[in-house]
Amino acid sequence: MGVVQVTGELIATRRAGAYQHLTFVAPGIAELARPGQFVAVSVGGPASALLLPRTFALYRAIPTGAYTGTVHFVVGVHGRGTEWLAAVRPGEPLDLVGPLGTPFRLPGSPVGCLLVGGGYGSAPLFGLAEALRARECRVDFVLGGGSADRVFGEPEAKRTAGSVTVTTDDGSAGIRGTVVDVLPDELERTGALAVYACGPMPMLRAVGAVAASYEVPCQVAVEESMACGIGVCMTCVLPIVGDDGVTRMTRSCLEGPVFPAERVRWDDVGRVPPDALGAGEPAASGDAAPAAPAELTAPAGVDG
Ligand SMILES: Cc1cc2nc3c(=O)[nH]c(=O)nc-3n(C[C@H](O)[C@H](O)[C@H](O)COP(=O)(O)OP(=O)(O)OC[C@H]3O[C@@H](n4cnc5c(N)ncnc54)[C@H](O)[C@@H]3O)c2cc1C
Ligand code: FES
Repeated sequence: MGVVQVTGELIATRRAGAYQHLTFVAPGIAELARPGQFVAVSVGGPASALLLPRTFALYRAIPTGAYTGTVHFVVGVHGRGTEWLAAVRPGEPLDLVGPLGTPFRLPGSPVGCLLVGGGYGSAPLFGLAEALRARECRVDFVLGGGSADRVFGEPEAKRTAGSVTVTTDDGSAGIRGTVVDVLPDELERTGALAVYACGPMPMLRAVGAVAASYEVPCQVAVEESMACGIGVCMTCVLPIVGDDGVTRMTRSCLEGPVFPAERVRWDDVGRVPPDALGAGEPAASGDAAPAAPAELTAPAGVDG
């Protein structure tokens, strides 16, 4: 699968509840993108001290139309980079690299699929839903957020899916609670044979556990901190169990962000478990530790 680096032009930016929906003309990326992949975006402008790109799941990638190749993503303000991005005005050129990472795997036969999104994590599920429907899979959604303005995409889901169940932590929309609370009922009601989830890591872990208790395979798109997004820096590694049963520290930007939920060692996220391949082994003589990319060794006070 190819990856391109382009200067994208922001052509539209609009509020979507608590989030900002950005549309870029980004020739090449839309043509290559598949649901579940993401882009790395430069932030802060050409003279910025914000050196590292920020990563965003693709909400939509439309290869044709009035403009040649548009990509859409949804920004929730978190820190300085996303604050800057949410305020960018149309016409601004930005450096975009993508599509990055592995896409969701699609079922081989038309089965019912339950798509579970938390906050802006719902965004990549809409392109996935289209791909699933093209395979004649029934699609049902569970969308959640802290409050009504943090549930992304409910109107679109209602137009296109078999059913949509909304949850909010504060009860301001849908059922009070989390997506995990309603998942057992939704799995039973829809009879779904596949679950796809994207959202905060604790949500993904819990969704994976519920799906496993129903013996339904579950793919999760993880959101692990990423410095480079292109497989170089190793900041994004997660302990993932391979087909051979061996745990490897696996780059979620390259081999992920989509993983089967049961392959993620959730208890060990954020550390290297002692039984992971290579953990604790002394470096072979003559081996040097890989050098960190220059931007990761910036002096204190320089933003990432
Ligand atoms: C695969 C993937 C898809 C994502 N999709 C979206 C999306 O669709 N919409 C959205 O709003 N956000 C998304 N995020 C999270 C987004 O990348 C972070 O919110 C953003 O990098 C924070 O940058 P900042 O400058 O605002 O915050 P700061 O805290 O100043 O960020 C500094 C650095 O910390 C890291 N970082 C901080 N928070 C996060 C986080 N939550 N996840 C990953 N890295 C983080 C980044 O490497 C960043 O370079 C995604 C992250 C990943 C890994
Ligand atoms: S973010 Fe740098 S290797 Fe994954």
